[in-house]
Amino acid sequence: MKKIAIVTGASSGIGEAFVKEISVTDETLDEIWIVARRQDKLDALLALTGDKRIRPVKADLTNANDLESIGQRLSSGDYSVCLLINCAGLGKRGNLSSNAIEDVAATINVNCQSLTLLTRIVLPYMKTSEVKKGGGRIINIASSAAFLPQPGFAVYAASKSYVLNFSRALGAELAPQGIVVTAVCPGPVDTEFLGKATGGRETEFTGFRKNVVAQADKLAKASLKASYKGRKVLVYKFSQKMVHFVSKVLPTGLVLHFEQKLLKN
Ligand SMILES: NC(=O)c1ccc[n+]([C@@H]2O[C@H](COP(=O)([O-])OP(=O)(O)OC[C@H]3O[C@@H](n4cnc5c(N)ncnc54)[C@H](OP(=O)(O)O)[C@@H]3O)[C@@H](O)[C@H]2O)c1
Repeated sequence: MKKIAIVTGASSGIGEAFVKEISVTDETLDEIWIVARRQDKLDALLALTGDKRIRPVKADLTNANDLESIGQRLSSGDYSVCLLINCAGLGKRGNLSSNAIEDVAATINVNCQSLTLLTRIVLPYMKTSEVKKGGGRIINIASSAAFLPQPGFAVYAASKSYVLNFSRALGAELAPQGIVVTAVCPGPVDTEFLGKATGGRETEFTGFRKNVVAQADKLAKASLKASYKGRKVLVYKFSQKMVHFVSKVLPTGLVLHFEQKLLKN
């Protein structure tokens, strides 16, 4: 039986950082499936790491046939999925009324629907264990945006609330099989994400967020460590732990009021 890891969103940013980290640190895996639409980026990552265990899997996760073909690939071999990292994601800044309908659909589709469907497709192949934490591991990349409603980024923030709550519930469902589910909640991370979210208007975090921006490689390391420890949620960096705390103690209406004020400035 081949032990494998599957990483979505592997063509850039955090997903790419996960692949590099796993490639160097996890000698137990036989194959690492790296999933994204941009084949050239996946091939470049394979060349860069020189890791012959890496298998580029070109797939548009919003496409049902592409999702199904990942399922077929799993069923055609003798695979045990030790690690699934759902990292693919996107968001578009702006009020809903100004967002393109296809961007809204893609955000919900990639961040919520495809993450859920891929997990469902992979589950029958996931390593199980009677020993607590002895089975496979799932890491879902949520965001600190999951903690609060965000005017001007409403669909994205709500989609990440879904990822966080889905992960918590799934973790409880899978605990008897020894499978650990970890939701990762970072704040701003230095990747292509912001450029895509703003249609290229902003490519670097500025203002307050500049001081709290995280590096993808460090985030990937910390996420894998949290998953090994069996953590259910990783809120990454002190600044985001503060956001989490505030979201729990302040009334949501008050937070929304401040968010609206910040947006106007
Ligand atoms: N960067 C941040 O500030 C930040 C903060 C908190 C959470 N996050 C989350 O972290 C995750 C990774 O984001 P990132 O920062 O690494 O951004 P990124 O560099 O833009 O990476 C996004 C990844 O998602 C993939 N993807 C997007 N749509 C896809 C589709 N339809 N089918 C298959 N793959 C698709 C992209 O691959 P292709 O384009 O090649 O398909 C790419 O590999 C996302 O879930 C994001 O929400 C990011």
